[in-house]
Amino acid sequence: TAEEWQEQGAAVMTRQEIDASGKPQLRTVKKGVKDFNFGRTLGEGSYSTVLAATDRQNLKEYAIKVLDKRHIIKEKKVKYVNIERDTLNRLTEHPGIVRLYYTFQDERSLYFVLDLASGGELLGVLKKMGSFDVECTRFYGAQILDSIAYMHTRGVIHRDLKPENVLLDSDMFVKITDFGTAKILPNPKPNGADDPGNPTDGAADDRAMSFVGTAEYVSPELLRDKNACKASDLWAFGCIIFQLLAGRPPFKAANEYLTFQKILALEYTFPPGFPELARDLVERLLVLEPANRLPVEQIMSHRFFEGIKWGKDLWRHKAPRLK
Ligand code: ADE
Repeated sequence: TAEEWQEQGAAVMTRQEIDASGKPQLRTVKKGVKDFNFGRTLGEGSYSTVLAATDRQNLKEYAIKVLDKRHIIKEKKVKYVNIERDTLNRLTEHPGIVRLYYTFQDERSLYFVLDLASGGELLGVLKKMGSFDVECTRFYGAQILDSIAYMHTRGVIHRDLKPENVLLDSDMFVKITDFGTAKILPNPKPNGADDPGNPTDGAADDRAMSFVGTAEYVSPELLRDKNACKASDLWAFGCIIFQLLAGRPPFKAANEYLTFQKILALEYTFPPGFPELARDLVERLLVLEPANRLPVEQIMSHRFFEGIKWGKDLWRHKAPRLK
């Protein structure tokens, strides 16, 4: 039904206009399909297509996610579409997260106007390179972790972090995407006031209901107890650091069931020559008990990331050349 698509939180623009009396008036102008020129297809999912698009007024480029309303209603995915819009509307102040600028709809589709990440998926870059060296892994690991720290501070757990959901912009900087399976935690802490040593991280109040993301990156607590917490994102982060250096994820088997068994048994091995500090970090992240995983603050001060300037500086330096 049309009422299900409330446009609460939709971004709008205000424009100053002079009315007949000569008085300046602020008028709200909502963007719509007609305001964009649509271009090439950037990606296709089961419920959506992402297209490159240009704002006709200022020629600014975006990625527009087009979602088919009938299909989403039929497949009962309305909740996930709303989760994606709500989480993105909470995460507008960080360079490492794809920003949602406008939402609108027509009879057939919903439209999410997003940052364009022209560098594509981190997975694609990694596959082309085989694996990353320590310098590139430190840089991309740091940008991913800085983005995770921000979303957790804003009370959002991603729950499906993986190299396909880490996009790269024209500067080859990280833009995390796909918040359709994210969880908004009750009572997010105010911006910047996160307590890294919070003993409740990974405990009951952080819990999210049942959901399974991508097999290779799923945390053991999600498989065991059907609960995801902030630390579940840090398990996935450990898998990503391993994968950047090794060229393959730590837990991979012929099928999902066997992959899950490996995860629950913590059955993985480092390839020969895996860097020592990275190994120490990964071993402190791939820990079965979420409460015993290294919290964000301690990952940032781990020796693997020694010399990294966290915060705004991380997004001002040039990305290292991939080699
Ligand atoms: N594919 C999916 N989302 C995208 C985005 N925001 N930019 C580029 N390609 C994408």
